[in-house]
Amino acid sequence: MSYAKVLCVGLVGMAGHVVEVEADLAPGLPGVVISGLPDTALHEARDRVRAAIVNSGQRWPNRRITLNLLPATLPKYGSAFDLAIAVAVLGGSGELPLVPLEATVVLGELGLDGTVRPVRGVLPMVAAAARAGFPQVVVPAGNAAEAAVIPGVQVRAADTLHRLVAFVRDGTPLLAPPDDAPTAEAGGPDLADVAGQRLGRRALEVAAAGGHHLALLGPPGAGKTMLAERLPSVLPELDDDAALEVTALHSIAGLLPPGGRLLRRPPFQAPHHTATVPALVGGGSGLARPGAVSLAHRGVLFLDEAAEFSKGALEALRQPLENGRVRVARTQGSTEYPARTQLVLAANPCPCAKPSGDAACECTPLARRRYLGRLSGPLLDRVDVQVRLPPVRAAELLQTGTPSESSATVAARVAEARRAAADRWAATGRRLNAEIPGPYLRRPPWCLPGRDTRELRKRLDSGSLSARGFDRVIRLAWTIADLDGRARPDGGDIAEAIQLRTGEGA
Ligand SMILES: Nc1ncnc2c1ncn2[C@@H]1O[C@H](COP(=O)(O)OP(=O)(O)OP(=O)(O)O)[C@@H](O)[C@H]1O
Ligand SMILES: [Mg+2]
Ligand SMILES: [Zn+2]
Repeated sequence: MSYAKVLCVGLVGMAGHVVEVEADLAPGLPGVVISGLPDTALHEARDRVRAAIVNSGQRWPNRRITLNLLPATLPKYGSAFDLAIAVAVLGGSGELPLVPLEATVVLGELGLDGTVRPVRGVLPMVAAAARAGFPQVVVPAGNAAEAAVIPGVQVRAADTLHRLVAFVRDGTPLLAPPDDAPTAEAGGPDLADVAGQRLGRRALEVAAAGGHHLALLGPPGAGKTMLAERLPSVLPELDDDAALEVTALHSIAGLLPPGGRLLRRPPFQAPHHTATVPALVGGGSGLARPGAVSLAHRGVLFLDEAAEFSKGALEALRQPLENGRVRVARTQGSTEYPARTQLVLAANPCPCAKPSGDAACECTPLARRRYLGRLSGPLLDRVDVQVRLPPVRAAELLQTGTPSESSATVAARVAEARRAAADRWAATGRRLNAEIPGPYLRRPPWCLPGRDTRELRKRLDSGSLSARGFDRVIRLAWTIADLDGRARPDGGDIAEAIQLRTGEGA
């Protein structure tokens, strides 16, 4: 026999497609030809596979080898095809009867010595195999735990090409995925640690309940970073679909923690202000790496010292934040990753950053405007909640009486408010107040009575509030009503919303 076929999976963005690796061995000048839109890594695969086969004690067929990856139109990235190619070559040369691998998807990169190395993206690859109805997958031993998260498919692992060959030839069992009990995800830092900052805590709770972007402005040491890091602790757990999506993105980035379980907590990403554009939005050769904005999908993207990020970086985040998706340019077409994230910005109000706040500021008014102005165009405009934190007072920091509310208490209120909003907007297909279009809220039956919006309309007419700002205040008012258990926002809710939007009255 001089022909063999082995199944693999190629990823395009988040979507896995089953790929057939065909090997045809013909007499003629020895050599290897690969067809089917391979990227550079696939050409390198030829050399890795040859070395791995020889160093595993197998014979490399001295014939003309044609490898074809189908469907040819599907772009193929990365090194996960190595193992399937190796087995197809051995099958085609008649060395290995491939019957045991029928209906089995084979994934893995080969080292020159024949070890099977872990690859990025195994979780969505195995999910694709399961969805296509294949009963068994073989994955690198280093990816076994993550692959086993996918139900409905038997996962077996190989640490070397030799082990896979022994399985195919003699039925020597492959490795089973580790079955150690899944450990609970470590709870992050807790809101109970934050003293004072009544306005900041309320802003965080409102942002969590409505899914609003949040900006925390204030002097150094006021607790901006502390508060932001605690946002995930008051957000609800991810549902099954979201958890799978988030875990798949982290799998593609090669960033899954060991242990193999779905990520259930909303992710938290805090890229440094020196982060490159690809680190923020994704990129790189081979299988594109999701950037911070995608790793924060269905979680929180925290830009600490936001005014220090480069203009290019802030600009690059604009589109993904608007669309909830990010397009990563590739040599063959482009890849898309989801990027629906809640943005938190923290910044000092000015470059001199005095701990005691604005009173001691030495900056010129122009320098102050410029500093935050860098944020305002691209990002700050989309942020519903913008508050200024005062410096922490000794009495607050040192108070030993009643401790601050814990994250669990706040999370319970947030969950309740989110339920109310999801019920109300059920017909729109949206769940969070932040997702509801402004015009929708300005029309009956949702428009609010004139007596409650008088102040808002006054600000609109005097130019101190933009039309977009108007809509944002209304959205916030709905979230405040949800948190406080009112069916509709009243005048008081709107007044608080104005405060959370403009940072007034802190
Ligand atoms: N409200 C607070 N309650 C308790 N501790 C606080 C509070 N604010 C600040 N701290 C203490 O000060 C440290 C610094 O706080 P944090 O990093 O959150 O400040 P920041 O506002 O982000 O400052 P910077 O502008 O310098 O980044 C914290 O680790 C904590 O120990
Ligand atoms: Mg900080
Ligand atoms: Zn200053």
